[in-house]
Amino acid sequence: MQQRYAAITGVAGYVPDYVLTNHELEKLVDTDNEWISSRTGISERRILKGKGKATSDMAVEAVRLLLDKTNHLPTDIDMLICATVTPDMTFPSTANVICDKVGMRNIPSFDVGAACSGFLYALTIGKQFIETQACRRIIVVGADKMSSIIDYEDRTTCVLFGDGAGAVLLEARADGTGIIDSILKSDGAGRHFLHMKAGGSANPPTRETIIAKEHYVYQDGPQVFKFAVKGMADVAAEVMERNGLKGEDIAWLVPHQANKRIIDATANRMGLPAEKVMLNIQKYGNTTAATIPLCLWEWEKQLHKNDKLILAAFGGGFTWGATYLRWAY
Ligand code: UT7
Repeated sequence: MQQRYAAITGVAGYVPDYVLTNHELEKLVDTDNEWISSRTGISERRILKGKGKATSDMAVEAVRLLLDKTNHLPTDIDMLICATVTPDMTFPSTANVICDKVGMRNIPSFDVGAACSGFLYALTIGKQFIETQACRRIIVVGADKMSSIIDYEDRTTCVLFGDGAGAVLLEARADGTGIIDSILKSDGAGRHFLHMKAGGSANPPTRETIIAKEHYVYQDGPQVFKFAVKGMADVAAEVMERNGLKGEDIAWLVPHQANKRIIDATANRMGLPAEKVMLNIQKYGNTTAATIPLCLWEWEKQLHKNDKLILAAFGGGFTWGATYLRWAY
């Protein structure tokens, strides 16, 4: 009998309608389209507008579409995990809020905070509950309203990020498809280079923290770049080696979309041509936990059963990781 793996059996996504272009950013900060496109690969990003609109609202759109596409009722789901760094509020978890809005009750739901690697962390947690048969169906969401923590007067960060949500359904498969292997890593010393200074228990919000703009993303870009370019490539190569995979075996690299140069370096290290790399950073920028499920959603029609995929991410923490899966449908 084949081993049972947790498999992605459906995927859906949501991006807000409002398009913030590089040209529009040129009017806000001292930047230009040429700098942004050549240094990052980004041309535009989506922004969630509307008073009171939160990360959960984008996630709910993705989850409703996922349920609809996979012909499931909210009551069919045994667990919901949400990866995010922009929760609706510090507590309760955004996963709790999503469940309430969608009509999922009395199931475990919780958030995972692993920044840009959050979706891979949440997926790997979900995999355990499916493989032990504790759950039959789990929804894993990656969602971030990055515009809520971005200073649109800081040119070093405001050009990079966008808003969006993606969701996948996890179920058991015994036909060799599913998540075969996952490597997750972290190094908290990296927190100095990418963080939000205030708002947590170390530095609760005050008038001063607001005036000092400490509730926005702080990033030392070049330092993060240095670690990301190595970390993402190394972990992708490690998961390939551990599973005896060569570049020609891989159908798709599904990379976190932070910078096209980091993605190119990872693909290069894996021996993959550009045609095998999912890339939508030009349209959406860095949506943090949502980048990987948004790619899967966009490329879903081009995927075939048994395709070998490597998902790879690097982000705040530092956290990073890579997942090897065989597509289930
Ligand atoms: O997903 C979470 C993990 N995050 C990442 O993986 C991001 C990793 N880092 C990066 O992607 C890159 O470091 C950035 C895209 C953030 C920056 O690119 P860079 O090539 O590392 O540029 P830099 O920060 O070294 O800046 C080069 C120059 C500087 O000017 P000087 O000092 O050389 O005169 C910056 O002040 O570019 C300037 N600059 C800009 N110029 C125009 C920085 N931001 C901008 C901007 N427009 N938006």
